[in-house]
This record gives sequence, C-alpha cells and structure tokens, in this order.
Amino acid sequence: MSSWNNLLANKVAVVTGASRGIGRADALALAEAGADVIVTDILLESDEHSDKEAEKYGPMAQVMQSTDVIYTDQTVAEIQQMGRRSKAYKMDVTNLEQVKVVFEQVVAEFGKIDILINNAGTLDHVSQIEQQRDDFWNRDFDVNVTGAYHCTKAVWPYMKEQQGGSIINMSSVAGTIGGFGQASYSATKGALLSFTKSMALEGARHHINVNAIIPGIIDTEAFRLGNPDMNERMINRTAFKEPGKPEDIANAITFLVSDKATYITGAGLQVSGGIELFTF
Ligand SMILES: NC(=O)c1ccc[n+]([C@@H]2O[C@H](COP(=O)([O-])OP(=O)(O)OC[C@H]3O[C@@H](n4cnc5c(N)ncnc54)[C@H](O)[C@@H]3O)[C@@H](O)[C@H]2O)c1
Repeated sequence: MSSWNNLLANKVAVVTGASRGIGRADALALAEAGADVIVTDILLESDEHSDKEAEKYGPMAQVMQSTDVIYTDQTVAEIQQMGRRSKAYKMDVTNLEQVKVVFEQVVAEFGKIDILINNAGTLDHVSQIEQQRDDFWNRDFDVNVTGAYHCTKAVWPYMKEQQGGSIINMSSVAGTIGGFGQASYSATKGALLSFTKSMALEGARHHINVNAIIPGIIDTEAFRLGNPDMNERMINRTAFKEPGKPEDIANAITFLVSDKATYITGAGLQVSGGIELFTF
C-alpha cells in the first residue's frame, strides 16, 4: 500500500488536453504525488502552429494560441523540477492512430501507463437548439466522447497486460443536470458517465478502475472566456457562491487514481461546490 505522502510513487500517468486549465493542474498534482506524467494536447508550446491549424480545432484553440495560453513545455519543466520524468506529446484524441502511436512511444520510453486522465474537451459552443451548429455537434462528440473512447481503447491492452490501471473521464454537471444552450456539450458529458460505468464493469476483472469526475464551475482560462453575465449566474447557483479551482479537481483525481481508492469504480464524483443542490 502506498503512503499518503507519496501516493503515486512509481506510477506513470497520461493526461489529455493538458496544455492549460484543469488538465495542467491534474498533471502537476499527479507529479506532486509522485507520478511521472505525460502531458498531451493538440498544440504544443514549442511548436510553430499556423493559424489554420488552430482554426481546425475551433474558436477556443484560436484564442488560446493567439494569446499564448499553451503551457505544455512549462508544465513538463515544472514536473521535472519536482524530480519526476515528464514529456509533452502532440496528440489529437480524435485521431485513434495518433493516440496509439503516442501510447506506444510512452510505454517504450516510460515502461508502462498506470493512469489515464481523459480530460480533453470542448467548451466553446453555447447556443440554443435552433442555433446549435451541426459541425460543432459532431466536433463535441468527436472530442469529448470518441476521444475518451479512443484513449481508453488504446490504453486498455497495456493495463490488461499489467492487470491494473486507473482511468478518469472528465464529465460535467451539464451531463447530470443539463445546461441551457448546451445541447451538444451536455449530451457528451452525460454519455461519458454511462461510458464510465460500462468500462468499470469490463475493467473490474483486470483491476482497471474507471471513474468520472463531475466538475461544477471551475475557474480556468476557458471559463473566463465565457459570457460574464452567464458566468456570474452560474457562480450564484453554487452553494459556495464561488467557482472551484483547477486544483480542486486535481486533488480529487489524485485520490481516485491512487491505491487508496482501489474499491471505487464506476463512480461519478461531483466536485461542484454544490451547484446541483436545491439552493434558494
Ligand atoms: N472549467 C469548467 O468550469 C469545467 C466544468 C465542467 C467540466 N469541465 C471539463 O474539464 C475539462 C477541462 O476544462 P478546462 O476548463 O480546463 O478547459 P480548456 O479548454 O482549457 O481545456 C480543454 C483542453 O482540451 C484540449 N483539446 C481540445 N480538443 C482536443 C483534441 N481534439 N485532442 C486533444 N486535446 C484537445 C484543449 O487544447 C485544452 O487544452 C474539459 O473536459 C471540460 O469539459 C470544465
């Protein structure tokens, strides 16, 4: 059994969508708890990206690129300063072949994958059903659901072979209570919860734990790009009357993927400041 001090010693973790926000916080927290961490995302800090490439991924990627909010190299450096191994890989979760190649390289270089955090997600399309863009409906499902499916499928043989592993899927309260103007986003986040349960059932015989985190409103760069009035209304809905920090999610994940949580599988853990509660 691991000690609480060095909870994830000797573990190797892969985090998707880790260039900023919750993914970056997850990567840092897992490393702080002792894990070697692989930081993956569509755009890497040191790469030369064309505007065209960012445009392919939607308005959020374009804004983040133009304002230099891509911290993959910085995150790797911070993890290495903690004395852990780390590397950044360019990985688009919608591309199964690319995911497989990256995971092969990770296993060749780091020896194994114990932890997979399916964090990559899209948060840049809020519109009511009549204005819901069909291309964004498909994009949201491709990234949020199919992306998690690709990464789970690609990591499964390694976890099965070693008879152990832990997978976290990043859902949202939009997936449990819905969201006004969030038809595609909430549908993808709901789908991730049922995917989590099915994978937990299949994984149990191989000691692969699969759980979901259900964040409420978390103060990330992406959240701050949202409509300020809407953000304020959402914050007022939380019992705490304030947004959570990326670290709140990362701390919950660190526990869930550790050997202290081996009897927890198929769960959806709300880290939401009580946004779903009947506040009035
Ligand atoms: N911030 C919140 O309030 C909140 C609430 C509930 C759930 N979440 C979920 O948490 C996760 C992180 O959210 P965040 O606020 O840090 O947002 P974010 O936009 O900063 O993070 C999403 C990350 O996913 C990456 N990404 C997008 N498409 C990708 C693709 N095809 N392949 C690989 N990576 C891709 C982005 O580049 C980005 O780094 C998301 O899944 C989001 O849905 C966030």
